[in-house]
Amino acid sequence: MTTTAREEAARRRTFAVISHPDAGKSTLTEALALHARVINEAGAIHGKAGRKSTVSDWMDIEKARGISISSAALQFTYDGAVVNLVDTPGHADFSEDTYRVLAAVDSAVMLVDAAKGMEPQTLKLFQVCRHRGIPVLTVINKWDRPGLEALQLMDEVRDKTGLEPTPLTWPVGIAGDFRGVLDRRAGDFIKFTRTAGGATVAPEQRMTAEQAAESEGDAWTFAAEESELLEAMGQGHDQDSFLAGKTTPVLFGSAVLNFGVRQLLDTLLELAPPPGPRPDEKGEPRPLEKPFSAFVFKVQAGMDSAHRDRLAFVRICSGVFERGSVVTHASTGKPFATKYAQQVFGRERSTVDLAYPGDVVGLVNASSLRVGDSLYIDEPVTYPPIPSFAPEHFAVVRAKDSGRYKQFRRGIEQLEQEGVVQVLRSDLRGDQAPVLAAVGPMQFEVATHRMEHEFTAPVAMDRLEYTLARRTDRTWAKVLDRESGVEVLERGDGELLALFAGSWRLNRVLRDHPDVLLEPLVAATD
Ligand code: G4P
Repeated sequence: MTTTAREEAARRRTFAVISHPDAGKSTLTEALALHARVINEAGAIHGKAGRKSTVSDWMDIEKARGISISSAALQFTYDGAVVNLVDTPGHADFSEDTYRVLAAVDSAVMLVDAAKGMEPQTLKLFQVCRHRGIPVLTVINKWDRPGLEALQLMDEVRDKTGLEPTPLTWPVGIAGDFRGVLDRRAGDFIKFTRTAGGATVAPEQRMTAEQAAESEGDAWTFAAEESELLEAMGQGHDQDSFLAGKTTPVLFGSAVLNFGVRQLLDTLLELAPPPGPRPDEKGEPRPLEKPFSAFVFKVQAGMDSAHRDRLAFVRICSGVFERGSVVTHASTGKPFATKYAQQVFGRERSTVDLAYPGDVVGLVNASSLRVGDSLYIDEPVTYPPIPSFAPEHFAVVRAKDSGRYKQFRRGIEQLEQEGVVQVLRSDLRGDQAPVLAAVGPMQFEVATHRMEHEFTAPVAMDRLEYTLARRTDRTWAKVLDRESGVEVLERGDGELLALFAGSWRLNRVLRDHPDVLLEPLVAATD
């Protein structure tokens, strides 16, 4: 059984797609699954408003805004490998969830819209990848329509991420006239043929350079020249530099036409790292063949209005997961029975009986599990906590109906545990009106909605003018509390956070108290 964990890990690839909204993440997800033949027709997986046969009955907010807040992982097999695509929520506002998902992956695919280049959200997510040392593959999408020049896009990637782009394929035909790609390592041409609406896997035909020159003429010559130029500039793939986060292999494609999707899957299998031994909180890697261990990277309640259940999504780090086994919850030492274990993607749920390192499993009825918690069998392990990011939005929350205070408290506690929002308290404000803190304002929307519909305690939210948070201690808290435009509150994890109404206030405090303890929190954009 122990060898199985290592062997199964070796054939797994666990990754996330990071992109700005509308770059084509949902389309690419469908195309990947289509290639893996999980589904027969594109459009059956992801809950996006208006899309054919996509239904989402998760939360009304998701329905109303056509976004997905809830997310988990899609698993499929491809060419003997098991691919785990961990979904990052694709909405314009950031939430902490987005970042936590990246704790669960071994690599990321950065999806770039050929016409728009590097966009803010892609960059923010990319920075989290860099922070965590996650290798990044880049896909330039939408090459079927007019966009920037390929070389210009490479400059953007280099200038904005600091990563050296190493294209594996190079487009033949300018953006808008996509004929196929030059396979830079083999030197030949992969010709794409359009199918109606990209609904089936686009046929690919390999040709030699000579055949390509004959069939594509100038478009081929131009692509070959540019590719040689890249070669001369030393932009060839090097596996060590990629794994070290110094370079990013680049592919060109069109998700909607299913062009280049196979290259992406092949590249993931060939280059993306499989799950490896994960360091515990002391930095000691836990070998894959050790008994089962995992950590919680996401907790989700109310995903399905018919079943108000609570799922904890864990990423397996070592050993074999067998449904029904009893595991130990590291932070309490208590046993946790894994009777119900599911794979969840979109609305699809299926029971998981066996899972291996790199896999994502949703544990049902996991009311005691919190984000960052570790689980293990036999040999104890605690994985490092998942950092909570510096909040930038703050609001006071109160129960609209004081008669429902009990429900209010329970709801706030629950949202805090799930990490939907951070909850800050102080004696001055009291328990009836805590301050909620978030990385993205949509977290407030989700909290308000759930307080009303799930906990039957409608709330009023009043936004506060603070925009910055710094960590401080009790001694300095007394000094800071006397300053105007500054307030110190305690977070659930015991940290004292000083909130400032803008950098001007912060700078003034720093000037007046040069010794003040004000540590930056982990910022999403560090
Ligand atoms: P997201 O999840 O990253 O937000 O993006 P999504 O896949 O929803 O794609 C956003 C829009 O971009 C969609 O158009 C989609 O069809 C289009 N798109 C995705 N990939 C490609 C591509 O390779 N080429 C072209 N030309 N378009 C692409 P929409 O009009 O918003 O929706 P729809 O009605 O087409 O579904």
